[in-house]
Amino acid sequence: MKKKCSFHLTLFVMEITREEDVSVAIDALLECKVKIEHILQGRDLNLQFLGVSEFNNQVVFAKIAEDSAKAKLKEITDTVKNTFKDKELFKIENRSCIPHLTLMKMESAPELQEQGVIIYPSLYRTFKKHYFGNETMSRLDLCSMGKARQPDGYYHTEASIFIGVS
Ligand code: C5P
Repeated sequence: MKKKCSFHLTLFVMEITREEDVSVAIDALLECKVKIEHILQGRDLNLQFLGVSEFNNQVVFAKIAEDSAKAKLKEITDTVKNTFKDKELFKIENRSCIPHLTLMKMESAPELQEQGVIIYPSLYRTFKKHYFGNETMSRLDLCSMGKARQPDGYYHTEASIFIGVS
């Protein structure tokens, strides 16, 4: 199970091959603040976490309820992705964007993963329709998956922007 402080939603993943390009990525992130604020029109983005699903029996995650906030999150994701695409420097992963709040993943137990151990659906069946709660989007981080994690378990963060009114 993940540490609470490392909970996050990944909007998308990209490859930055040269360390010197990180500053371009930081500029792109900073450009996103005004665009996201324009999408939100002064309102908070309040996401509801309802039910669980999985990727390939390797990752179990809380799903985001199908409502207008989820649609706004998609609009924000597309806008941020396009801002990075416009820099023409980054290889952006094209995997379908399913917003997921990861609860557990086999990647965190590489030895078991190597042995072919999977996360059995019976382990989380009772949470299939569970309401986990809601969370207001307050921050967007540019994180590195390649660098060592922070002492609190969260990904190494290159830069952040703060969003929302409250
Ligand atoms: O850190 P994060 O919560 O984003 O990790 C989620 C995991 O789910 C990653 O290992 C990623 O490769 C995986 N994933 C997946 N299929 C997707 C999206 C993410 O297997 N469509």
